Amino acid sequence: MEALRFKWANLILMLSLAMLPDLSTSLSACNFPAIFNFGDSNSDTGGLSAAFGQAPPPNGETYFHGPAGRFSDGRLMIDFIAERLGLPHLSAYLDSVGSNYSHGANFATAGSTIRPQNTTMAQSGYSPVSLDVQLVEYSDFLKRSQIFRRQGGGVFEKLLPKEDYFGRALYTFDIGQNDLTSGFKLNMTVEQVKAYVPDLITQFSNTLKGVYDQGGRSFWVHNTGPLGCLPYVLDRFLITAAQVDKFGCGAPFNEVAQYFNRQLKDAVDTLRKDLPEASITYVDVYSVKHKLIAQAKKFGFQRPLVACCGHGGKYNYNRYRKCGATMIVKGKEILIAESCKDPSVRVNWDGAHYTEAANKWVIEQIVNGSYSNPPIPLGMSCNRIEH
Ligand SMILES: *[C@@H]1O[C@H](CO)[C@@H](O)[C@H](O)[C@H]1NC(C)=O
Ligand SMILES: *[C@@H]1O[C@H](CO)[C@@H](O)[C@H](O)[C@H]1NC(C)=O
Ligand SMILES: *[C@@H]1O[C@H](CO)[C@@H](O)[C@H](O)[C@H]1NC(C)=O
Ligand SMILES: *[C@@H]1O[C@H](CO)[C@@H](O)[C@H](O)[C@H]1NC(C)=O
Repeated sequence: MEALRFKWANLILMLSLAMLPDLSTSLSACNFPAIFNFGDSNSDTGGLSAAFGQAPPPNGETYFHGPAGRFSDGRLMIDFIAERLGLPHLSAYLDSVGSNYSHGANFATAGSTIRPQNTTMAQSGYSPVSLDVQLVEYSDFLKRSQIFRRQGGGVFEKLLPKEDYFGRALYTFDIGQNDLTSGFKLNMTVEQVKAYVPDLITQFSNTLKGVYDQGGRSFWVHNTGPLGCLPYVLDRFLITAAQVDKFGCGAPFNEVAQYFNRQLKDAVDTLRKDLPEASITYVDVYSVKHKLIAQAKKFGFQRPLVACCGHGGKYNYNRYRKCGATMIVKGKEILIAESCKDPSVRVNWDGAHYTEAANKWVIEQIVNGSYSNPPIPLGMSCNRIEH
């Protein structure tokens, strides 16, 4: 039965890929006027930094030449998505200095989870801005931005989105990874973590529905990456030799990520049926990132399991001396966890996040829709495909 289902899935995929050229020419370009993003550090452009302190240098060094609210040496996938759509980089909703929300807002913060955590940030490191909070922020932004725009005349017209942008915008989601590690941090087994995945998926679906109910129509959903290949996971959790796969990754962690992704994909299929005017694209970021890590050399990258910015050890990752950590030596502050020489050939930036070069590579793979379901390009993802 399982094998039969698998063959059907392959057949359908092959058929839909074969149909792609026709599909693309018959679909219209979307001209998204705005992006609203929900997520964690993979797409945080300044939220956590605004509330809890800047991501320290050398974060941001490659592209922004200084800290820019991002946990990377440069741009994140969400920045490249904005660029591809001809839109400015997104300001973080929580950032009250220098922000411009005329073409969208970013509700993601580093450390965000789908479910609110029962621990404080000081205890567990997870952000209090979980996905339910991000939805509240979005609702508030939607209502209040229009009150201020309607007052007219002033600077707000140049800083806030037009009313019709909310229905025409692209809503992007990249969240779930931290929910999975949170269980492992509490010493849960793989089975125990898997047991709460349905709850994560339900809460995720409810949030997407919440956005739809307020007028959102186009959704772009990233699945979660291969967390077992992240230096911080490899360093932080007890992984026996038997659990390390042929790529050097922690197999149980990748198994859980894929378990989550399968359920997320099913949930997206259900949402497509439940929400008659929604176009929802599920993007298999896991496979792209895994391909990059597994065949790094082929794609011009090096040492995919070792952090570029860190403080020694097998994975150049030390949880007490993370990227940007400093020490006072003879009254002078010196950087003790610094960047490698050339981040442009590295996959992993700081143990938990990808370099700008890796983010760019991943985006190049996914924009044309070849890792998406349905398989349509980013710029056409407002088109609803009837299955
Ligand atoms: C927090 O506690 C509540 C009540 O016991 C529970 O329903 C919820 O699942 C817990 N959340 C997490 C993330 O463990
Ligand atoms: C905000 O950004 C938009 C688009 O880049 C620009 O047209 C607008 O003038 C900016 N607003 C302000 C107040 O600078
Ligand atoms: C998890 O296990 C480790 C090692 O046995 C222990 O030090 C730690 O306190 C445990 N953490 C929790 C939250 O139970
Ligand atoms: C999508 O883009 C990637 C990267 O440029 C390329 O390798 C792939 O063949 C493209 N796929 C399709 C279906 O056009």
